Amino acid sequence: MQIRPFELERYFARHEFSAKYLLGSSDPEAMSIADLLAFESGSEDALKKVWLGYTESLGDPALRRDIATLYESVTPEQILLFTGAEEPIFAFMHAVLEPGDHFVVHFPSYQSHYSVAESRNIEVSYWCGDPAHNWTPDLAELPKLIKHNTRAILICTPHNPTGYLFDRESWNRVIEIARQRGLYLFCDEVYRGSEHNVADRLPQMADHYEKGISLNCLSKNCGLAGLRTGWIATKDRQIYNQLATFKDYLTICNCAPGEYLAGIAVRNIDKIFETQRQRLVRHLDLLAAFFARHETRFSWQRPRAGTVTFPAWLGGSALDLCDRLIAETGIMLIPGTFFDMPGDYLRFGYGRANFADVLERFENWLIKAG
Ligand SMILES: Cc1ncc(COP(=O)(O)O)c(C=O)c1O
Repeated sequence: MQIRPFELERYFARHEFSAKYLLGSSDPEAMSIADLLAFESGSEDALKKVWLGYTESLGDPALRRDIATLYESVTPEQILLFTGAEEPIFAFMHAVLEPGDHFVVHFPSYQSHYSVAESRNIEVSYWCGDPAHNWTPDLAELPKLIKHNTRAILICTPHNPTGYLFDRESWNRVIEIARQRGLYLFCDEVYRGSEHNVADRLPQMADHYEKGISLNCLSKNCGLAGLRTGWIATKDRQIYNQLATFKDYLTICNCAPGEYLAGIAVRNIDKIFETQRQRLVRHLDLLAAFFARHETRFSWQRPRAGTVTFPAWLGGSALDLCDRLIAETGIMLIPGTFFDMPGDYLRFGYGRANFADVLERFENWLIKAG
């Protein structure tokens, strides 16, 4: 079976680098290599000495040690480096799931969470967040979706595109459901660190569930998407080995300068998270005021985490709105269509430094457009 085009990424490929203003991106404000090196003295010289031969396929041992410190009980041997977070999603769907398996996916969702599985004849059921309840999925529904051939559940928290964050009790309940049935639980945690209130931050799946797989990267919580550094953490040795073996057919190993720079980010992650978090909260306040001024145009509830939010657009086709917006103003916003979400939704990203300016431009256009 052929894999479906990744609609969101195709739209980005078309517009991201020609649009004048980005109002729908999930990666927050990035930084330069110089900004990153400024965190540690002597790092500039050290970067120049990075050897450009192949790197270790499991990931640089020093980087794996640094990453393991971000977990409660995961060890460096339980960390496997990948290029971004996209690669381990692809690897999991190929190396762990088999055609004929059934897989439950939190929805709406980043498309690779389900399209890769579907391309392999893996049956997917969708566990849907409820837009009327700020995208909370119904816990009572989850066990009903599980079948005799279910192998795994995937959740994403904090969530793209809705910003939904599980509360601790619901998160525990998902683990309980998976554990009772012996299912793998793949937890996409790439937005972890962007909780608007730090006290809401959840633990990481790999620390709390023996068949849990925590997915993370530096793209969304740190704004370092260009480093292309992602990883999985899992205590399940079999899964770990299957993923490591599959990686040999993908990128083999990570990029050496990227691994060095990723180490600096990981060692300084709390400071980076805090800078991003403060910006997100400031921008979300602007967005809340914007939605209050336009209650007849949007239906919105404030998310508790993440860099993106997913209001309903009450003015007709979200896709038409985005196409007109980019053609007339150069502002790129994302229609919910690209998340396969029925109805008309828009993804706003509010982590970029020029957010206030772009939101104002969007508002002026919206008022003129009627
Ligand atoms: C939920 C989620 N997982 C994974 C990824 C892929 O991340 P990366 O760009 O680091 O490969 C994204 C990117 O948008 C995402 O939103």
